[in-house]
Amino acid sequence: MTEDMFGIAGLTAFFAGVLWWLAGYRSGRLAYARSPRQLRGRAMRLLGLIGAAALLVDIKAALIVADWPTGWPAFEGKLALDLALLLAPEAAVLAYAAPRLLRVRALAKAAEIGSGASGNGSGSGAAELRAAAADPLLVLPVQAAAVAAGGVFYLTFFTAIPVARTEMFAVPAAVVAAAALLGLRQRLRQQAMLAAAWRRPSGGRRALRAVAGVIAVAAALTAGLSAAAQSSRLPDRVGMMSGAMDYGGGAVPAGGAHDHAGHAGAQPVSVVDLTGPQEGAADRQFTLTATKAAVRLASGAVVEAWTFDGGLPGPELRVKQGDLVEVKLVNRDIEEGVTIHWHGVDLPNAEDGVAGVTQNAVQPGQSYTYRFVAEDAGTYWYHSHQETLEAEGKGLFGALIVEPREPLPTGTRDIAVTAHTWPVAGDGLPRIALGASDTDSRQTVAPGTPVRLRLINTDSNEKMFRLVGTPFRVAAIDGTDLNEPGELTGRDLLLAAGGRYDVTFVMPETPVTLAAQSDDNQDGGSRTASLILSADGKSGAPVGNADLRKKQPLFDPLAYGQPAKTPFGAGSAFDREFTLALGQKLGFYDGSFAYALTINGKLFPNTPMLMVREGDLVKTTFVNHSSSHHPMHLHGHHMLVLSRNGVAASGSPWWTDTLDVAPGDTYVVAFLADNPGVWMDHCHNLYHASVGMMMHLGYEGVTSPFSVGRATGNHPE
Ligand code: C2O
Ligand code: CU
Repeated sequence: MTEDMFGIAGLTAFFAGVLWWLAGYRSGRLAYARSPRQLRGRAMRLLGLIGAAALLVDIKAALIVADWPTGWPAFEGKLALDLALLLAPEAAVLAYAAPRLLRVRALAKAAEIGSGASGNGSGSGAAELRAAAADPLLVLPVQAAAVAAGGVFYLTFFTAIPVARTEMFAVPAAVVAAAALLGLRQRLRQQAMLAAAWRRPSGGRRALRAVAGVIAVAAALTAGLSAAAQSSRLPDRVGMMSGAMDYGGGAVPAGGAHDHAGHAGAQPVSVVDLTGPQEGAADRQFTLTATKAAVRLASGAVVEAWTFDGGLPGPELRVKQGDLVEVKLVNRDIEEGVTIHWHGVDLPNAEDGVAGVTQNAVQPGQSYTYRFVAEDAGTYWYHSHQETLEAEGKGLFGALIVEPREPLPTGTRDIAVTAHTWPVAGDGLPRIALGASDTDSRQTVAPGTPVRLRLINTDSNEKMFRLVGTPFRVAAIDGTDLNEPGELTGRDLLLAAGGRYDVTFVMPETPVTLAAQSDDNQDGGSRTASLILSADGKSGAPVGNADLRKKQPLFDPLAYGQPAKTPFGAGSAFDREFTLALGQKLGFYDGSFAYALTINGKLFPNTPMLMVREGDLVKTTFVNHSSSHHPMHLHGHHMLVLSRNGVAASGSPWWTDTLDVAPGDTYVVAFLADNPGVWMDHCHNLYHASVGMMMHLGYEGVTSPFSVGRATGNHPE
């Protein structure tokens, strides 16, 4: 179960609040009825409202209880508070307010009969009736329920799990304080009404009071919101080494949390010194020039793009395992700055290409050279890691294939397929392209040919791929080959944003079609494109959006393939253990209102830096409490999946660098801290990263001289 603020949890919180507020307002107005008849009508309607609100509260409470226990203590704390705020006032309403309302109704009915339906509400009988209708024990429980519903609404929409301890205390405290004030007011009102000389406030006076009330509330709200917006502004400069540290239960450096000199007084190492080989001739040399360009896609649609070398996507780089690779990045005219991050490649930290963490953004006219040895074969990709949301969306990316030392089966057709949704200039719908083509494209492949399709999801949302016309195997995930992958038919492949699957098959006599689609509610109507392989390059049909909407079961790596030896596993002794709760809330981030995505309730730069020591074995648990997928991407390391939702991984070792954590899922992963540096660890839904879902992995004894923020020109998100 997750806190689905856009689903049932949010809806019930919202409507329970609306009903209780109406009921609270009406209960306060009850005693002002002009006649017993009007009073009786109001009492009846109020009873109806209370009944509806109570029903909604019971439904919400039942839903919470039905999912108990959630297995997530941090979540249960919040849910317990929700339950208390929902049920306690409801009980008070049923115990105190409801019987009094019934009595008011009966009294009013008696008065109606006694004085005739046109009774004018004066005299001592009327005073008694007013006093009964203004009884604080009638009014207060209903108004308290309204205030408490406001608390539940706040908790549902404006806090993330784990809810900060201050808020866990402040919310009920505010509810109790507000209820106490309302109770006091009602007491005074009732006393005033008991006086024989009491006069109903005039219409003008009431209107004046209402206007004053509205103005006061609006002013308070505006002041509060602008203060919140202001205080959410990020500092102009955030040093990489500032902020909170989480040691995961492991050793803390002797000098304390901010002593990066490390143990034994070792000299601190700067990330700038953790480079690839600086000497020696490169085996492969590339130059990538970043430049803005209007690019016409195959369909004719035009993209106002940021490109490497003028095309979309950037050039496919192919190297051999073991090659010393040198890439010169030249920024011709992208004022926002550019870097190149080698997504999924475990390389030395200084070559990681993250603005503000491992280098400064490369400005127009500048260049920067990356050198690293491509040690691990596999499917990778590269993209700018400066203003990444915009840069990657607009085209600053390409495939990086490291071909294995042991060659693939002879004659293999090795095809890298980036799948990307292009924003189209004008008001055209976004278009999904496979590789460079946003229309259906064809390739001639002779039957019997071994085929390896390297699928790369370069979008910010998970993407569904379908291969039609042949059984296939998922041969690799995130660049790492799987052990004895079995043959699959009728399975869709849901690929994490930034993730890769290598799919292999032997070309049959008949055509094979690959198509891709973003999740239903996220493709915004974008049209899919097909890649059709056939013996003659002509036959075969595309797979369209309508076909893709008929879902097939999803491929699941958890029990796929055969187990093999791994350097560590679930039974290993871990040096550090981190738990990362992925949550959501509405609120301000850097001055604007946002659907913010949190890690342990925090937004960057308040997310802690995960601190390790070289050689540590690290266990990390991702818990997704939100209603979005979070493709969690750790730079510089590969994580071994140990379990999902308590079920141990039982197939081939599943190594990942970009793990799609679906709503409600819990993953336990492990990695070896064998690559010193300061590494980003973030959600690869780049929108999420841009509203705070970012953190870093730091190594004891490693410092970074770089910083991010307005004053620095570095914006890695
Ligand atoms: Cu694909 Cu932090 O990057
Ligand atoms: Cu996310």
